[in-house]
Amino acid sequence: MNILVTGGTGYIGSHTVVELLNKDHNVIIVDNLSNSKYEVLNRIKRITNKVVTFYQIDVCNKDDLKEVFKNHKIDSVIHFAGLKAVGESTEIPLKYYENNILSTLSLLEVMKEFNCKNLIFSSSATVYGYQSVMPINEEATLSATNPYGRTKLFIEYILKDLCLSDKSWNIALLRYFNPVGAHPTGLIGEDPNGIPNNLCPYITQVAIGKLPYLKVFGDDYDTIDGTGVRDYIHVVDLAVGHVCAIDKITTSPGLVIYNLGAGKGYSVLEMVKAFEKATGRKIAYKITPRRAGDIGTCYADASKAYNEMGFKTIKTIDDMAIDAWRFQQNNPDGIK
Ligand code: NAD
Ligand code: WQD
Repeated sequence: MNILVTGGTGYIGSHTVVELLNKDHNVIIVDNLSNSKYEVLNRIKRITNKVVTFYQIDVCNKDDLKEVFKNHKIDSVIHFAGLKAVGESTEIPLKYYENNILSTLSLLEVMKEFNCKNLIFSSSATVYGYQSVMPINEEATLSATNPYGRTKLFIEYILKDLCLSDKSWNIALLRYFNPVGAHPTGLIGEDPNGIPNNLCPYITQVAIGKLPYLKVFGDDYDTIDGTGVRDYIHVVDLAVGHVCAIDKITTSPGLVIYNLGAGKGYSVLEMVKAFEKATGRKIAYKITPRRAGDIGTCYADASKAYNEMGFKTIKTIDDMAIDAWRFQQNNPDGIK
């Protein structure tokens, strides 16, 4: 199959491209490189020994996208391109609405024009807002607590409306929980700009000595040790989930929604321990007040993805820590 991957040089996109190539799909990547590097393409080639076609374009630009669809007969699209920093989205909300929503609208219009109606969309557990009942299943009420989350929620509604209006679309909304880790080769991984917002890249930067200590945001939650509990999913498992979803949407029509998580939560301190084991180093940390907007516990009911497309995670938190650490050591200053 010819699969167009928007945001394919990014963190989750690059790992998914590797899994698609491993399944002998033909991959075309479009990315504006606003949050990733061209070098990722060389890394993908080193891992797979295969080449992808790359266009450095902005998905908001319909004319550029049309050229891609003219040059290739695209069978399915995986749409990762988007801005994703929760904090930044509260500072520059218009940029988030413009980039995430316009890119999706422009992609959908071009797909429609070229009669390509198979789409996988990167949604997020953020669309569940604050939930009190765990695990969270796909029927839970939806809400958003920040502009980034609202872009995901709005796009989900846009895609649902599209499927209601035209039954020939086949769309999967994949709600990722907390993607972490890196490819076991250590060649691709999470490469944040500046000080990381997310837990795991922060821990690896403490381990390598770039940051002095981890701030643990609160130890007074109603959890095993008082620190926040999340559903961490290894990025390679997550990438495999996309391959399953491609099979699903191309064999059964309409809109499907799946949580992609491990179905189990780990606390911040459990993650710290896993990284201490993986790195052989002590991870310095200090308990600080809770981070605004955080919830105590969040993990997925992962059974629907298993029952309907046979997807389940196989990697452990030790794998996540070992692989993230290998990537950090191989790329101390990020991908260059
Ligand atoms: P990432 O920033 O590493 O990758 C996104 C890629 O999209 C980048 O390479 C960036 O350059 C590109 N991009 C952004 N806007 C673009 C545009 N207008 N045109 C072309 N390219 C553009 O992020 P990621 O972690 O790989 O996330 C991928 C998707 O998954 C995003 O939509 C994100 O919101 C979603 N998601 C991520 C997480 C997470 O924790 N990483 C969790 C849930 C959902
Ligand atoms: C994990 C845990 C923190 C950093 C975010 C987005 C979500 C989704 C995934 C895109 C929490 C604690 C963290 C630190 C800490 N992204 N923590 N010190 O907040 O669950 O989810 O990424 O869709 O939308 O909100 O992930 O990695 O930031 O935090 O103690 O320096 O680690 O409080 O319990 P989060 P995270």
